[in-house]
Amino acid sequence: MKESLYRTLQLLEEADGPVSGEVMAGRLGITRSAVWKQIRELRDQGYGIESSQKEGYRLVSPSRRLLPYSIRKHLKTRVIGQRMLYLPTTPSTNDVARWLTTGGDLDRLHGTIVIAEEQTGGVGRLGRAWVSPEGGIWTTIVLTPTIPIDHVFMVTMAGAIAIARAIRREFGLGAMIKWPNDVLIGDKKVAGLLLELDAEADRINFCLLGIGIDANFDPSVLSPELQQGITTLRAELDEEVDRARLLARVLREFERHYDLLEAQEYEAIVREWRSLSSTLDHHVRVRTLMKSFDGEAIDIDEYGALLVRKENGRIERVIAGDLFHT
Ligand code: BTN
Repeated sequence: MKESLYRTLQLLEEADGPVSGEVMAGRLGITRSAVWKQIRELRDQGYGIESSQKEGYRLVSPSRRLLPYSIRKHLKTRVIGQRMLYLPTTPSTNDVARWLTTGGDLDRLHGTIVIAEEQTGGVGRLGRAWVSPEGGIWTTIVLTPTIPIDHVFMVTMAGAIAIARAIRREFGLGAMIKWPNDVLIGDKKVAGLLLELDAEADRINFCLLGIGIDANFDPSVLSPELQQGITTLRAELDEEVDRARLLARVLREFERHYDLLEAQEYEAIVREWRSLSSTLDHHVRVRTLMKSFDGEAIDIDEYGALLVRKENGRIERVIAGDLFHT
């Protein structure tokens, strides 16, 4: 949002009642017709603004969009999300974030988030399509971690912890993490993470952490097959959630856990992950590229790999694959 528009919005928000065009023009140091243009732009961005010839303009409802301005009001981070790029629609925020890194100053980009109101070509793990209608939270964080590359999966773990904790804190729902990258409520998925990596042999150039949270849409927009395994926050709570506030909380929780990661406090993250895990102690079926087997998920290690005790007593270390709770 442009600085001038932001000032107009702030003026309306802080006013007790309607403000005349003349007073606004005077306070903002612009003409009355410029005020009118700004009001039109704010309405285009979804703000409800009443106007009457006698009294002037009055803000009656905030925008329902996930605008940077609304997120910033709640944001308590140092770096993560301090720069935001908002798009009403885009194929995938991960693609936009990758595009930003092309020729961009990576150090400056660290912590930048790309947000979209809807994605037309959202991507999930293993190249699967990720349905991303309006009302969800679709965002990608650009990161330049300095951790050893073999710990990079822990970035996803920090993201999953952040989402589960934020949902618990904001709404009191019992969100849990399913290895490797799902956040569940009950046995239904409410959020997923996708980590894309750009690295050389032993060093990470950057990574893109895509976060999808099924917030304010009706699950009936999904195919019947998807509906079986997916829930939304709105469906769980029977009311719309404040997406800006939730995302700000997710970013704050993420920054806290990302800082632990950078400080090589791996055990602290593993401990937190364990306490939020719905996978541990569960009977699971693991499907990797090479094989498929059943067993009991007994732990994760400090790289985020899942340890599964097979029926013959042998322990398998799983670093990637599909997992089913059985
Ligand atoms: C999964 O569970 O398979 C991962 C889903 C990740 C979805 C997010 S939404 C924002 C970002 N953009 C994408 O295209 N995908 C990720």
